[in-house]
Amino acid sequence: MEKGKVAGTSPMRIELEAGKKYFWCSCGESTNQPWCDGSHKGSDFSPVMVEVEESRAYSMCTCKQSDRPHFCDGSHKKI
Ligand code: FES
Repeated sequence: MEKGKVAGTSPMRIELEAGKKYFWCSCGESTNQPWCDGSHKGSDFSPVMVEVEESRAYSMCTCKQSDRPHFCDGSHKKI
C-alpha cells in the first residue's frame, strides 16, 4: 500500500468509542488529522475505517508511515 504524506511526526492520543465508526486520513492532506476531511478526492487514497471493541484512548498515526495503519507503530521515529 502506498503511504501518504507525512502530516505529523508523533501520534495523537484519542479517546475512541466502542462500536462507533471513524475514518482515518491515509493521504495525509486532511486538515482534521488524524481524520479524513475529504481532501483525498482525486487521488488514489481512501480513508481507512476505524472501529474499536473497547472504549479507551488509542495512539493514532499522523505520519502515515505506520505499517499497521491507522495505529502508530513507532515508524514516526524514523522520519
Ligand atoms: S505517528 Fe505514524 S507511526 Fe507513529
